Amino acid sequence: MLRLGVNIDHVATVRQARGADEPDPIWAAVEAELGGADSITFHLREDRRHINDRDALLLKHTVACKLNMEMSVEPEIVKIALELKPEQCTLVPERREELTTEGGLDVVRWRKRVAPVVRRLKAAGIEVSAFIEPIEVQIAAAAECRFDAIEIWTGGYAHARSEAAATRELDRLASAIDCGHDHGLTVHAGHGLTYRNVHAVAAIPGWCEFNIGHSIVARSVFVGMRDAVREMKRLLRRGERAQPACGEPA
Ligand code: PXP
Repeated sequence: MLRLGVNIDHVATVRQARGADEPDPIWAAVEAELGGADSITFHLREDRRHINDRDALLLKHTVACKLNMEMSVEPEIVKIALELKPEQCTLVPERREELTTEGGLDVVRWRKRVAPVVRRLKAAGIEVSAFIEPIEVQIAAAAECRFDAIEIWTGGYAHARSEAAATRELDRLASAIDCGHDHGLTVHAGHGLTYRNVHAVAAIPGWCEFNIGHSIVARSVFVGMRDAVREMKRLLRRGERAQPACGEPA
């Protein structure tokens, strides 16, 4: 069954907009779990623009499902991850001027910096995932660096401007899943997925987990986090039911 990781960073973004103590991302994580989230995802950025060290520690103590920490390979952040020991760490690129993570980590380019971080996190018993674009050489490099999993950047599909472009991107995602499996990697998906566009992605067989943030937090403003998560889970199940049966052409 497709798993849903709920990214709660944007709850902290609203809190930080006023430098206040609400809304609390810890509370959001509890509500997301009650709505059926299979994991809670947060990104401890170097500039602490949303999630801060207090949040990370409290999430570690309160989240009952899987905790997934998105992080750069900066030594300060790696040290925190090794102390915190979330169930999973997802290595992402990080640029201070970006609004959100804008693309995948270039594992080919940064292999020498990335591989030792993967080794240290795995030695601490943490599952390690690489957030990468659906490109074969990046997937192969992730396998060489001994990641357990890859999270494929779905932004290319989410930002496609025509149906033809969206179809091309969906084909790229399907090939990336096959390539990941060929390399023995678990394959997740994330970025830009919404209530409107998630169906076609969930209908591709082979995914393990989707990480979705902005769209769920946006909807939670109107319907509450629990219902927002429930609805996304329902869409994932519906997508899964639309997957071609084994041996049937996609
Ligand atoms: N996965 C990763 C690795 C991300 O960096 C992000 C963005 O924070 C997401 C998933 C969630 O993306 P979105 O907020 O567009 O759903």
